[in-house]
Amino acid sequence: MTLRDAAAEVRENAHAPYSNFKVGAAIRTASGSVFQGCNVENVAYPEGTCAEAGAIAAMCAAGEREIAEVYVIAQSPAPVPPCGGCRQKIAEFAARDVVVTLATTEGTELRMTVAELLPGAFDASFMEGS
Ligand code: THU
Repeated sequence: MTLRDAAAEVRENAHAPYSNFKVGAAIRTASGSVFQGCNVENVAYPEGTCAEAGAIAAMCAAGEREIAEVYVIAQSPAPVPPCGGCRQKIAEFAARDVVVTLATTEGTELRMTVAELLPGAFDASFMEGS
């Protein structure tokens, strides 16, 4: 199964009754494993949890920590950019040159690197010597 197929498959399981906007994400790790996540909303916090965060949580729960590739898909006029929080979460586990593909269900794809998604990222090096 391609990473696109994995993201499209899990998107069907999204719980998005407030936004009616289903998102699917799939992560391939350095070991070759694939982890899937969908957005899950709730009445108190309608923005809920993003698909990317769900895939990252599944990856960590399985004991993996190194993202090799990310694919995000939604039904949208243009590929949907990950929210700020998800950019930071992806950057926690991915090198700067890792490719994040943003896609529409119609087939448009936008490939970006983690560095492009989160320029000027805060990382542990800034805490050196403190
Ligand atoms: N959402 C994601 O899951 N990933 C993104 O990259 C953008 C937004 C979700 C969160 C919420 O459930 C819905 O889309 C509308 O913001």
